[in-house]
Amino acid sequence: MAAHKKPEPGTMTDRNLALELVRVTEAAALAASRWIGLGKKNEADGAAVEAMRKAFDAVGIDGTVVIGEGEMDEAPMLFIGEKVGAGGPRMDIAVDPLEGTTLTAKAGPNAMATLALAENGNFLHAPDIYMDKIAVGGGLPAGVVTLDDAVAVNLRNLARAKKCEISDLVACILDRDRHKDLIAHCREAGARVMLITDGDVAGAIATALPDSEIDIYLGSGGAPEGVLSAAALRCVGGQMQGRLLYESDDQIERVRAMGHADPRRCFSVEEMARGDVMFAATGVTSGAMLRGVKRSPHGATTHSIVMRSHSGTVRYIEAHHNFAQKTWTPT
Ligand code: FBP
Repeated sequence: MAAHKKPEPGTMTDRNLALELVRVTEAAALAASRWIGLGKKNEADGAAVEAMRKAFDAVGIDGTVVIGEGEMDEAPMLFIGEKVGAGGPRMDIAVDPLEGTTLTAKAGPNAMATLALAENGNFLHAPDIYMDKIAVGGGLPAGVVTLDDAVAVNLRNLARAKKCEISDLVACILDRDRHKDLIAHCREAGARVMLITDGDVAGAIATALPDSEIDIYLGSGGAPEGVLSAAALRCVGGQMQGRLLYESDDQIERVRAMGHADPRRCFSVEEMARGDVMFAATGVTSGAMLRGVKRSPHGATTHSIVMRSHSGTVRYIEAHHNFAQKTWTPT
């Protein structure tokens, strides 16, 4: 029998690294949870960022934030290019310390703290602009849906692949004016539309979760959220395409400067998150995938998901944090 090679700490084969990442999203979610329902989205975001930044100090990697809170001059922490981690193998990090700031402020569903990790150079460098996205879960023929096809064609092909009627399909779409036509076309084709107010990472991942009713995610949202969704879908064999959308020539120039020769090309899920990736998220407010932080007088319970593309494992972790315990730290 071949001996198992011992995984090197801090590398993509290090299973414990996945658990370290959960500690980081737990810290961010716990900090953000203090702001649930208080109508202060910036404060909630700031608390999550600060806690996530601090929690990274205990993780044995030489990490560089490639998807973060913005450029160095606009974000005090977790800015693009910032170094995080206690030292170790070189890794690229994508973070959204609080995905769903408004959801948190209004105590709406599906807010979460999230991050993804890949080997150096393996995440698409995407600025904070919009991205057109299409995502479906695993076990479907390659290219079953594409951004270049009309909505009706994608729905017909998806229904055929899933051996169901179009009327059995649920498309998840952000409830925005810019999606009026997309929503109308889905309904005209016969599909049902689930409108969400925010949080398209959860919407895209839901396409790949066995218990979710969502079959396809469609529409535009943040490009950084697109890369995080791609990382998660890579772990579970889902498909996704993304195309950056521009509102000004400046944005096109920024994207060219990031090394994209053709700023209008369509990226596959593998191009957005290459090689082995890990993805972790902790619920801030409850949603279809994760339960939110539940606080008690002496502690809190968190619910997280962590996935590794290397093994395809999806692990849910419920953690009971005892704030009264003297040794407890948010990391
Ligand atoms: P925030 O957490 O930054 O508020 O983002 C929430 C979100 O709904 C994302 O999930 C989504 O990608 C993006 O905003 C959509 O942007 P917009 O609200 O401008 O349509």
